[in-house]
Amino acid sequence: MTRKLLVTSALPYANGSIHLGHLVEYIQTDIWVRFQKMQGHTVHYVCADDTHGTPIMLRAEKEGITPEALIEKVHAEHSQDFAEFLVDFDNYYSTNSEENRELASNIYKALKANGKIATKTIEQYFDPVKNMFLPDRFIKGECPKCHAKDQYGDNCEVCGATYSPTDLINPFSAVSGAIPVRKETEHYFFKLSECSDFLRDWTRSGTLQAEAANKMTEWLGEAGENKLSDWDISRDAPYFGFEIPDAPGKYFYVWLDAPIGYMASFKNLCAKAGLDFDEYWKKDSTTELYHFIGKDILYFHALFWPATLEYSGHRKPTNVFAHGFLTVNGEKMSKSRGTFITARSYLDHIKNPEYLRYYYAAKLNGSMEDIDLNLEDFVARVNSDLVGKYINIASRTAGFINKRFAGKLNVTPNNAVIQELVSAKSLIKNAYHDRDFGKALREIMRLADLANGYVADKAPWVMAKQEGADQELQMVCSQAIEMFRLLTLYLKPVLPQLAKQVEQFLNVPSLSFADVEQALPTQHQIGEYAHLITRIDPKQVEAMTEANKENLQSSAPAAAVVTPPAEEANYISIDDFTKVDLRIAKIVNAEHVDGAEKLLKLTLDIGEEKPRQVFAGIKSAYDPETLKGRLTVMVANLAPRKMKFGLSEGMVLAASDERGGPFILSPDSGAQPGMRVK
Ligand code: MSP
Ligand code: ZN
Repeated sequence: MTRKLLVTSALPYANGSIHLGHLVEYIQTDIWVRFQKMQGHTVHYVCADDTHGTPIMLRAEKEGITPEALIEKVHAEHSQDFAEFLVDFDNYYSTNSEENRELASNIYKALKANGKIATKTIEQYFDPVKNMFLPDRFIKGECPKCHAKDQYGDNCEVCGATYSPTDLINPFSAVSGAIPVRKETEHYFFKLSECSDFLRDWTRSGTLQAEAANKMTEWLGEAGENKLSDWDISRDAPYFGFEIPDAPGKYFYVWLDAPIGYMASFKNLCAKAGLDFDEYWKKDSTTELYHFIGKDILYFHALFWPATLEYSGHRKPTNVFAHGFLTVNGEKMSKSRGTFITARSYLDHIKNPEYLRYYYAAKLNGSMEDIDLNLEDFVARVNSDLVGKYINIASRTAGFINKRFAGKLNVTPNNAVIQELVSAKSLIKNAYHDRDFGKALREIMRLADLANGYVADKAPWVMAKQEGADQELQMVCSQAIEMFRLLTLYLKPVLPQLAKQVEQFLNVPSLSFADVEQALPTQHQIGEYAHLITRIDPKQVEAMTEANKENLQSSAPAAAVVTPPAEEANYISIDDFTKVDLRIAKIVNAEHVDGAEKLLKLTLDIGEEKPRQVFAGIKSAYDPETLKGRLTVMVANLAPRKMKFGLSEGMVLAASDERGGPFILSPDSGAQPGMRVK
């Protein structure tokens, strides 16, 4: 029976580059999808960029482009990265699509018709300068527990405490620096609190991983208990997202429309490929639906998402496969250690994507445990397994077939090693199916050892020098080539590009699992053997981590969406420079500020109707009296910042380093207040 599977990977945010952490997921899913396709099943693998929300809106603003332009740029970058890592999506779409808008609206309407939507007035932090409500991550302040400064509104990176933004001491807006005020607003909620029984049933009927099922039980509590709170699905303007159909000025929270993006990407594929959307999403669908995700987003996929589907009249996921997080050399990826490695940087230095695919596969076991990329082990493992064991079988035997027998094989498949390779099929299949890729690869490498043992035993290079050993030489090398064919077939989900080259060399059509028992025909003609892969030089890895360290220093705002080429990194364009509005300012008044250690309050005339008030950190170097009447230079278009002592409406420029300062600037005589400095 051929099965119909729809498979997804989580939708990466459209405000950053793909890095090696992300790739744990996309490579893992791709291997599983390729395996299922090699089984002859019908599989559709879809993904998209997750494009909505405050961070993307603000990033675009910072770059001086529209959110649409930003997400388009990132979409191109992401698509290219995935393609080069051989992640073979059947569709890579965007959540900012018409399909998604329509699906999200319809699902919302269905939830509402089912009585699952409520409104509630809540109090939230509001940035009075930016005129926007602030998500937790955009409020900073002092940790209420350990008093570390500059911590986010949801948790402290120093002591690990979690809290709500209202607990922060001296909170300020990370967007404008202003002191946030609390403001009431009406929000829309999905009544998740009414979904406990349904979710309990779903957990039990499903085949969730043990760890995921445990998490669910923890979140759901005992039968009869209700630990779930309603889910806030709306955000106020300004917000980059979809406006809620009957609620002007209110937008769907990004996590409402993000998983619907799975459907939207598939819908877009259906139109292109003539597939039946409803067959896959209707309530009683007999197709299978699998989501691969990281453990950090399990809550969204195992609670919100099934409930959303259930109460909008859709099918539920067949399973949700959660994986752990990537560490590099045993630690969290780090920009200072050079282990925060982007997909692009890996490709630039290591070149071959299949090395990483192989290493990740060897480490994955279908659980939620974190996986470690040990860079030394990476080099050793790839060199010994792929080059030393696998490729070695062909490189020691194919040449004889090509040169001595004009590429003609003489296979007799009743060889003991070949039989063992054939009978390993079900173990390998089951391991792939269970996403225990590590187990599959251990078995494949055990078989590669057997094959190498066979070649070493028979020593074809000795036979080649013996008179009258021709027939045996041809037979031994042919057996080895058949072993190589089987190993290639088993490795194909992990190493699709290499497998394709081997298929060409072997002169066979695309290998699938049905070909395991179909040995090469006795008289089969193979192609010319060309060297397939080379060892990794540890120096390449060193260069990669070094380059990532350098990147950090040269591209100061570490947040740049697209890392500029190294040689451009230190420059800004003239357009960047002219964004800064520098003006000649006359200091009409300067005074001390009560309670401020470093600040002077300046009143600056820049030819505007009302003078500007600016707080400048120059108290240590200047007596306010001596400043009055002087001309200096100020940044006139800096976003106003609400400070403890009042609003600061710009910035005065001053020089300083370890030799002294601050020294404010003076223009040449003749300059007049308000003149533009450029
Ligand atoms: N946009 C959301 C997902 C929406 S799905 C409807 C998101 N995006 S993400 O870019 O932050 O992450 C995308 C996927 O990559 C997630 O499944 C996440 O768990 C995974 N990973 C991101 N960093 C990772 C590691 N360092 N290690 C392993 N997986 C990681 O979450
Ligand atoms: Zn703390």
